[in-house]
Amino acid sequence: MASFQTPDYSHLTQQDYENVYEPAEDTFLLMDALEQDIDNIHQLKPSVCVEIGCGSGLVITFLAKILNNSAMYIATDRNAIAAECAKRTASQNHVVVEVVTSDLLQALQPQLNGGIDLLLFNPPYVVTPSEEVDSSSIASSWAGGIDGRQVIDRLLPQIPQLLSHKGIFYLLVLRENKPDEIRKAMANMGFQSEKVLQRKTGPEHLSIIKFYRDPDR
Ligand SMILES: C[S@@+](CC[C@H](N)C(=O)[O-])C[C@H]1O[C@@H](n2cnc3c(N)ncnc32)[C@H](O)[C@@H]1O
Repeated sequence: MASFQTPDYSHLTQQDYENVYEPAEDTFLLMDALEQDIDNIHQLKPSVCVEIGCGSGLVITFLAKILNNSAMYIATDRNAIAAECAKRTASQNHVVVEVVTSDLLQALQPQLNGGIDLLLFNPPYVVTPSEEVDSSSIASSWAGGIDGRQVIDRLLPQIPQLLSHKGIFYLLVLRENKPDEIRKAMANMGFQSEKVLQRKTGPEHLSIIKFYRDPDR
């Protein structure tokens, strides 16, 4: 299997990480899943690739690099400082990523509806009190509220209208997010799913689930 270099993020400083999620095990797991699935991604020939909650911009920049910049890359984050960092990361690595400050993909709808071939989300997934979700502090990078699902559950019903007919969606989840329940909810909306990769990092059991339309539905 080809091995791809992590994009350069040496331009980001501890001061940036006071406001923006610092790349961590979950970030690297998502990049590893993309690398592992690269043959399928090449076959897909994606024209529009989108990351929600891009943080530092490392993952969408990685995707643009491994696909040789051959598609349109768009990223969002609700945190405007993260959006700025992501722009710097793309430029540092000589790839073009359109970064927009937005809650989920709200600022890009309805334009993007039905047009996303590859969607990525490493969400705020930690189980926390609900009040911490969507706060203006760095805690909103990881605070997922009840079952760590409050942000994930707002996105899921939008997936059918966002993805193109061939679109795929890679979602990072924690065991406490009840991945089987998420897969069932997506199956009810006509999506098949498979676990691409899983890893235990410290106390966290993380996995990457890939969703795609069930051809029989
Ligand atoms: C776990 S971090 C992942 C950051 C980056 N993708 C990575 O893998 O390192 C989650 C990111 O989602 C962003 N986020 C949280 N809620 C969001 C929302 N409702 N809409 C858009 N972005 C959101 C946070 O600001 C944070 O940057």
